[in-house]
Amino acid sequence: MSETIFKQEACIKCGICSEVCPVGIINKPTAETFPVITAANKKNCIQCGHCEAFCPNEAVELKGPDLQKAAGSQKQTAITPEQIGYYFPMRRSIRRYKQQPVDRQTLEQLLAIVRYAPSGVNRQPVSWIVIYSTAELKKLTAMVIETMSQMVKDKSPLASMMNFQNMVSAWEQGGDFVCRQAPHLLIAHARKDDRIAPLDATIALTHFELAAPAFGLGACWAGYFSIIANLSPAIRQAAGIPDDHVQLGSMLVGYPQYTPQRIPKRKHATILWRLG
Ligand SMILES: Cc1cc2nc3c(=O)[nH]c(=O)nc-3n(C[C@H](O)[C@H](O)[C@H](O)COP(=O)(O)O)c2cc1C
Repeated sequence: MSETIFKQEACIKCGICSEVCPVGIINKPTAETFPVITAANKKNCIQCGHCEAFCPNEAVELKGPDLQKAAGSQKQTAITPEQIGYYFPMRRSIRRYKQQPVDRQTLEQLLAIVRYAPSGVNRQPVSWIVIYSTAELKKLTAMVIETMSQMVKDKSPLASMMNFQNMVSAWEQGGDFVCRQAPHLLIAHARKDDRIAPLDATIALTHFELAAPAFGLGACWAGYFSIIANLSPAIRQAAGIPDDHVQLGSMLVGYPQYTPQRIPKRKHATILWRLG
């Protein structure tokens, strides 16, 4: 159970903590009172930490056994429109990797950053499995190929729509269009009955992909792996996904073999401006 501590000696009664609270449980300060969360409302706190993060005077502290501070949490980040306008378009899916493992510590650092991704009601429902062993990833990929091959034999419409035969043929010739011979695979999973978790997982994986280049890494959504894992209990079991959980997206990760040299073309944005 978390606790929000309002430090009256530091509070300047600006009321920002109350204004930014997403669930509206912090009573606004008045001339006579300080901000407070009533006992009845304490259970409604979603531990987003905005009261603490936005307080201009360090007068609020969210405490809880599961809560951990980010390193350098006081630093201001200033990313210019030019920097972000270059960085996002330059991000690429990486499909060729150096046959060099990434240290566990680096992946841990990345996943620690990904914890700051938004999630519905700040529940942070996504758990991770890192298929760190490249040999194990190869075995899982072989299982995916076997399933694809069976689906081709069974004339599955999905197999024909997604050209699984092509993946199987490539594998037979030593290629890997499923996991692209990446050294590692990251799997996002959450409870099957969680209706918001699929969105949360997509956002978290996107954060991972965007953060990876800062560590010299490249990533790529493993869509084929995900589709087949969701069809195959044997693959889910081999990957270590708990029975009551569902795979919500997977991502290849490793050191890129090639560096993109320019930004590819994209369609024009389709935007309807309703200006009143
Ligand atoms: C949900 C999703 C699944 C994807 N699955 C695969 C995949 O299985 N294999 C692959 O090579 N690329 C996969 N991609 C990468 C897309 O092909 C890629 O994002 C797209 O071609 C645009 O290239 P870019 O990411 O470099 O901008 C996937 C992307 C998304 C968003």
